[in-house]
Amino acid sequence: MTRISTTDIRQMKQRGEKIVMMTAYDCPTARLVEQGGADVVLVGDTLGMVVLGYDSTLPVTMDDMVHHTKAAVRGTERALVVGDMPFMSYQTGWQDAMRNAARLMQEAGCGAVKLEGGTRSAETVQRLVEAGIPVMGHIGLTPQSVNQFGGFKVQGKTPAAAVQLMHDAQALEQAGAFAIVLETIPAPLAELLTGRLSVPTIGIGAGAGCDGQVQVFHDMLGMFDAFMPKHAKRFGEIGEAIREAVRAYARDVRAGDFPTAKESFRMDPAALAELRPDGAKLGRRHALGM
Ligand code: KIV
Repeated sequence: MTRISTTDIRQMKQRGEKIVMMTAYDCPTARLVEQGGADVVLVGDTLGMVVLGYDSTLPVTMDDMVHHTKAAVRGTERALVVGDMPFMSYQTGWQDAMRNAARLMQEAGCGAVKLEGGTRSAETVQRLVEAGIPVMGHIGLTPQSVNQFGGFKVQGKTPAAAVQLMHDAQALEQAGAFAIVLETIPAPLAELLTGRLSVPTIGIGAGAGCDGQVQVFHDMLGMFDAFMPKHAKRFGEIGEAIREAVRAYARDVRAGDFPTAKESFRMDPAALAELRPDGAKLGRRHALGM
């Protein structure tokens, strides 16, 4: 099966086809996300919060990203897998960016990388693209800059901030980014940007006017209850389904109803008797492996 390429993603915009992107951080989840029909699997550094238990994405390392991206790649055959560049893996200069992006492509086997920032990241994006590494941009509320923003706040609300976002988007497009994530910006601004760019925009908290949407797996399936971002919609209650299944398991274990003969392995009673001359004392049920 051929994988969706970054060229396919660009062509989807030209055809007016919406792009479906979702995060996944391990093999079985990536498989499910692909089976559900996502075009792009993003191994985002949100894994720091929703999988590793940090309160921001800042502690996530390159080793974390390589480890999780590798697993997601193993779980997919058709989707484009994008590996996120974590905090300080590219801000320190394009040479570091090149080395770290190469790790994601070579060791983890993803098809593209994503990094945050507009004009300030444009040179890095251009260098990576020239080296054959497809790059997805990310502007607006870029979580790696949360300390600079003073919290997870909507970006681009004033005319000056909106104009800056337009410059950022254009700089990324000119640098060769194949798509740009727009995070937590006003919907009309995202629509305006989408109309002005030739590359697809993928929104999260950026309204319906983007060329595609991305959601965080754990948010949309009720598996992360520390907080629920306004831009997330619950498309399933998997968290509650898991809790309910664990409650049923605990009930059965405590009541002695699990495991039953169906989940146990039998042993020849004669062999058992040889091992334990007192086998009879174990009770008929045990001796028969029931
Ligand atoms: O890390 C991530 O999951 C992301 C998305 C929220 C766009 O960057």
